[in-house]
Amino acid sequence: MDVESGMRPDDHVCLCFRVSKRKIVNYLRREDPPVASLISECLGAGTGCGWCVPYLKHLHKQHCEGQPDPDIIGSAEDYASGRAKFRETGERDGAGAEKHPGEPGCSDDS
Ligand code: FES
Repeated sequence: MDVESGMRPDDHVCLCFRVSKRKIVNYLRREDPPVASLISECLGAGTGCGWCVPYLKHLHKQHCEGQPDPDIIGSAEDYASGRAKFRETGERDGAGAEKHPGEPGCSDDS
């Protein structure tokens, strides 16, 4: 698979609550949340293990910058294996961390 391609719409960004990229992007378009933490209102995304939180912020940042199709670069398989390691070690390392940098949202949650 081309590593520069993004996740597919039905790939899960929040693996704990099985929330797809499509659901999150539609939530961003519909609700236009001022802070990334409000994405938790979309089926609880980000309220489990915490792995997906930087990616939710990344999608939110893209949305705030006006990108019509916020995306996460890399395969769902790499994403899932990065999360499995995160749950084992509590650390974000390996290819997943490089391809999916944790970026702050476009607005502070404070
Ligand atoms: S993957 Fe989203 S909280 Fe665990």
